[in-house]
Amino acid sequence: MIIAIDGPAASGKGTLARRIASHYGLHHLDTGLLYRAVAKAVLDAGYPADNVAHATAAAAAIDPEKFDESALKAEAVTEASSVVAAIPQVRQALLDYQRTFAARAPGAVLDGRDVGTVIAPAADVKLFVTASAQVRAARRVAELQGRGVEADEQDILADLSRRDERDSQREAAPLKPAPDAHLLDTTHLDIDAAFRAAVAIIEAVRTGRKRG
Ligand code: C5P
Repeated sequence: MIIAIDGPAASGKGTLARRIASHYGLHHLDTGLLYRAVAKAVLDAGYPADNVAHATAAAAAIDPEKFDESALKAEAVTEASSVVAAIPQVRQALLDYQRTFAARAPGAVLDGRDVGTVIAPAADVKLFVTASAQVRAARRVAELQGRGVEADEQDILADLSRRDERDSQREAAPLKPAPDAHLLDTTHLDIDAAFRAAVAIIEAVRTGRKRG
């Protein structure tokens, strides 16, 4: 079984994807880490994030086994990730890895922006997870504070909006729900309620029931 979970920044899709993967015994890939790793490599080498040649070379050379997740969550890397992600050659270089991962037995949950539209268009279940920008910003602030990082909610809101805009407006694999994606708005749901709602959708699809 392949489950595709897409949505804007800080929508809760990562937490949801991990829980769903563990619930069903599937592999999990946070595809955002791939773009973050490319961004970090380009910045570390001293180039601007929109340097196509260096970003493409970095994408071809990344090794997900060696990812340091906390370094990939740094603010400068976050901002640059959506810049490298708009480069079609970067997306192309990361495609095989993601498709191979999705094909691993017994199945996988992938979360990102284009999983249901480009990476795994034949996924068994597609979820598009959203939440209001205010709620997403508040969640991101709480997450940062949990890691001991001080953050201003208005700054975070501006960062999220800028990244969403870039991700939605780009030509290469823009952020948008696949036509057959199930929308899950978590604005008023905590993680347990969001998980239950996601499992209900997955079970409904699996048992072939029609949902309104
Ligand atoms: O999911 P996360 O916020 O970690 O992703 C970081 C950035 O990577 C996003 O803002 C987006 O530009 C890019 N991305 C993407 N396609 C994906 C996953 C992430 O373009 N499938």
